[in-house]
Amino acid sequence: MGGSGYRITVLVENTVGVAAGLIGEFGQCLLIETEGGKILFDTGGRGWLVNNALALGIDLKTVDALVMSHGHFDHSGGMQAFLRLRGRLPVYAHPDFFAPRFNAAGKNPYIGVPFCREELVSSGADFVFTQEPAEIRPGVWVSGEVPRKTDFEPGDSRLYTLRGEERMADPFRDDMSIYCVTPLGLLVVVGCAHAGLVNIIEHGREVTGLAKVYGVLGGTHLGMVPPAQQENTIAYLRNLSPQFIAANHCTGLAMIVRLASLFGPVFRFAPAGAGFTLPAE
Ligand SMILES: [Fe+2]
Ligand SMILES: [Fe+2]
Repeated sequence: MGGSGYRITVLVENTVGVAAGLIGEFGQCLLIETEGGKILFDTGGRGWLVNNALALGIDLKTVDALVMSHGHFDHSGGMQAFLRLRGRLPVYAHPDFFAPRFNAAGKNPYIGVPFCREELVSSGADFVFTQEPAEIRPGVWVSGEVPRKTDFEPGDSRLYTLRGEERMADPFRDDMSIYCVTPLGLLVVVGCAHAGLVNIIEHGREVTGLAKVYGVLGGTHLGMVPPAQQENTIAYLRNLSPQFIAANHCTGLAMIVRLASLFGPVFRFAPAGAGFTLPAE
């Protein structure tokens, strides 16, 4: 299609918006449907995507490709459940996807992918590891590694990885997003936005050649970053003036409320069960 319409359904999110047998869980899983195919973006944390898809009348066996935003459990924990149902399919991820990941503030500090690569390959994952942007369907891009260009997006200081035995701040080189080309501009779909929302949007403009940004959907992590990053990002978004913002998951409730009040009808709540036909007329 080369970029016209998209149907995006939230299969897993921290909250549930439709009383239809859906289960909420800390995590994110989105289905992106275009004329060019069906792409699953992340899998949530505990496999509830299978239940939720069934409740919404969505057949996960028809998904063409899985894209992984990064190696946190709340995005990757549903991979086994999905692969067992779907069988073999391409899975796009960054080479650092399986790096060890921890949260210094967590009760259970390990927060990485809860499976080893071999286990997922046995269940049907045909991994396509990429650091470069890749157009996986006409008008649909996997971002590849996002260059860090802003000086105000250090991210969440509680999250770390290991170099040998030593702790170091997680650089999240594996944080990838999806860029959808639409007739009204760029639609940016983020998992947890650990690379920084502004870095991600700017990279998307470069990759797709679209200066105009139509909208942003997904986990922005904005509620969990330093105040300077929050204020600079909000100022950037206001200046950008997109037509659609659906920040959910790790955005955090307080920040969701703030964005909703700042952006009015441009802001849309995106719990499990929400569906968006984009760009909206
Ligand atoms: Fe997340
Ligand atoms: Fe994350």
